[in-house]
Amino acid sequence: MEVIIQPTEEAAAELVARIVAKELRANPHLVLGLATGKTMECVYRHLVGHHKEHHLDFSLCSTFNLDEYVGLFPSDPNSYRHYMDHHLFRHVNVDPRNTHLPNGLAADLEAECRHYEGSIQRFGGIDLQLLGIGKAGHIGFNEPLSALRSRTRVKALTPTTLKQNAAPFGGEDKMPRRAITMGVGTILECRRCILLATGPNKAAVIAQAVEGPITSMVTATALQLHPRCSVIVDEAAAAELKEKDYYRWIFENEPEWQEYR
Ligand code: F6R
Repeated sequence: MEVIIQPTEEAAAELVARIVAKELRANPHLVLGLATGKTMECVYRHLVGHHKEHHLDFSLCSTFNLDEYVGLFPSDPNSYRHYMDHHLFRHVNVDPRNTHLPNGLAADLEAECRHYEGSIQRFGGIDLQLLGIGKAGHIGFNEPLSALRSRTRVKALTPTTLKQNAAPFGGEDKMPRRAITMGVGTILECRRCILLATGPNKAAVIAQAVEGPITSMVTATALQLHPRCSVIVDEAAAAELKEKDYYRWIFENEPEWQEYR
């Protein structure tokens, strides 16, 4: 795992977008894993900019989202399908047939989860997975106590997540209590992971995820087992990290980051 600290939320999101753009230019058939949430909105804005201003081509790539609420229609403004259409898909030239989200309306949710895993396999696995982190340390909707080898499945949302995500639904009592999510094991199989966290609200959980012990209580800690994971944070989210000087040195000196400095 490596941690990259950027001065602002904007700079951190822009860095993530530049990494995605570089990977997509190197491999137009990229299989891209996507996340939703407030943090990612800025990344998608930058990716749309790369498409419009620098002709970044999405026509051959495929996407798999981490998760979707159970019981929402794709047209529901709070569904993650709607989020992706709104923030990215309709602004770039991705083929809609190559964009995948779990179907939270499936009659047989377990079969849907198996089918989703199968689709990821059929596309050759995920090359680059974008991740956010919840206040309770989840990646995807892998809530505390999610098995670190878990696969795509239905997960009940914790009170912390319900509180975190309730606003657009107009209250916790109006939102779905369950979601389909890729498992921690599914995420660990992606060839490269990038976790983005910004803002002071994420400082405590980022310190736990990066420098704390691996535990299913904070599923982001499982990324410490991943062979190629970058955690990109702004100064506010980095506030409680102990080894900041070391992380800064990496970004300033390692050849891999030269083109992004
Ligand atoms: C959403 C997802 C979640 C979010 C996390 C952070 O697809 O997988 O893990 O990334 O809850 O959400 P924000 O960015 O809204 O703080």
